[in-house]
Amino acid sequence: MKKIILIITIVLISVAGLALLSNQSSLTTTETAKNNNSNEKTETTVISSSKYDDINVKTIELRENENRSLMSVSYPVTENEKINKNLEITSQGFIDSFNETAEKQEQLYQDYLTETGTKSYTTVADFTQHFDVTFANENYISFVFDHYKNTGGTGSDTIFSKVFDRVSGEEISLNELFADDNYLEKLSVISREKLYKKIEQKSKNLDGTQKAITEYLESNRESIVIGTEPVQENFDALVISDEGILTIYFDKYQVLAGSEGIVSVEISLEDIPELLSPTLRDVFSIKKSTNKTPVLTQQQSPSVDCDFLKCVALTFDDGPSIYTGTLLDTLAREQVPATFFVLGRSAKIQPDSIARIVAEGHELGNHTWDHKDLRTLSGIDIDAQLQKTDDLLYSISQVKPLYVRPPYGAYNNDVLQHINRPIILWSVDPEDWKKPPREELIQRMTSSKSGGIILAHDIHRSTIQVIPEVISELKRQGFTFVTVTDILRQPIEPGMAYRHR
Ligand code: NI
Repeated sequence: MKKIILIITIVLISVAGLALLSNQSSLTTTETAKNNNSNEKTETTVISSSKYDDINVKTIELRENENRSLMSVSYPVTENEKINKNLEITSQGFIDSFNETAEKQEQLYQDYLTETGTKSYTTVADFTQHFDVTFANENYISFVFDHYKNTGGTGSDTIFSKVFDRVSGEEISLNELFADDNYLEKLSVISREKLYKKIEQKSKNLDGTQKAITEYLESNRESIVIGTEPVQENFDALVISDEGILTIYFDKYQVLAGSEGIVSVEISLEDIPELLSPTLRDVFSIKKSTNKTPVLTQQQSPSVDCDFLKCVALTFDDGPSIYTGTLLDTLAREQVPATFFVLGRSAKIQPDSIARIVAEGHELGNHTWDHKDLRTLSGIDIDAQLQKTDDLLYSISQVKPLYVRPPYGAYNNDVLQHINRPIILWSVDPEDWKKPPREELIQRMTSSKSGGIILAHDIHRSTIQVIPEVISELKRQGFTFVTVTDILRQPIEPGMAYRHR
């Protein structure tokens, strides 16, 4: 706003009388416009330049009712008429809501004055619209707007952004900026992680008993889960800066207590290339990651911290089978990593499923060659059951399983010694192999505590069929899905058996 290009000042006279009209010609600057102590209504419009060569700023200021009603609305004026029209309509909406509020507040003021003979200082209407350019190149331009509304009690702030195609002037919706249909799910997961981190930090600054801190964390966890449900309305304030940082703004009260005001989390676009549309990747010169499917990020990200996230690990035994492909499709669609304890015998028949499990970011575990009760075998046979399976899995995927799940969860000291790797059991056993009624199975599979390991079998069609519902119910409960490695506290020792975090 350095260089003032054009100033238009209009003084609208309401009650003060026509005599003031004679002053109109001298009111050529904003300074004189503010010189206003009567009940007149002043509207000032200023157009000035911005830090961007081709963007000007239009500012409309309104003051009336002895400055009890104040409004300042700034918006960009670009070289594109269609963009300008869009921005004018948005701004006019804000002005209309100001006028409506100002009228109501003034009525309250006058009523109070009549009743009590006292002037109220809380009946005001103070509205401000600010904007900033967040990123711009020859093809696209993005603005962020801040709507501040103060009516004497508490102020409210609303942040939103608008992105335009600079050539056509069309507004680009948020959906168009993201390539992946699951972007809301993904943003939800990342936001929860970052918000938990935030409250963790905050709780450390609280002086209180451990119990008070835990309660603080728990109470916030609930509101975070609700406020970050993966629906459009929770993620309508996304702002991308010209440094390629995506900031997600959450309204006051949306995810944390009102005293925290607007809460935001920041994500570097480089960390989520697979979610970005070609448009966005083009603007920020980000290459789409080509190595793995998106599901990997949860696992790769060292930021998955199950001390603060409500984590759960889905594990599938006895496969691969003819149903494994369908299961993998579901997991990919839902962006859920899992752990597969496979049989060597079955892997030999379906090597492609093993390759896919690994390529799509899931974890591979050894469930022996052909599912014998290891307690009944000699040491040499136990070794052979594991070695043969390891070798085959390595030859297919170049991955050696870190963990063993003995068939039937059965082991003794002798077995432990020969396995000489961490043994992974489970905390939730839905007995899916007994084929309980569908609703019963879903209910059992979704009854996990935080840090739980859920057992299931990808050799039963009835199990695979309920997985989409199981996932959505667990997500609804606020769970983050992780692999066995991520759910367990390090270090994980060989010769030890683990059932949950
Ligand atoms: Ni089994």
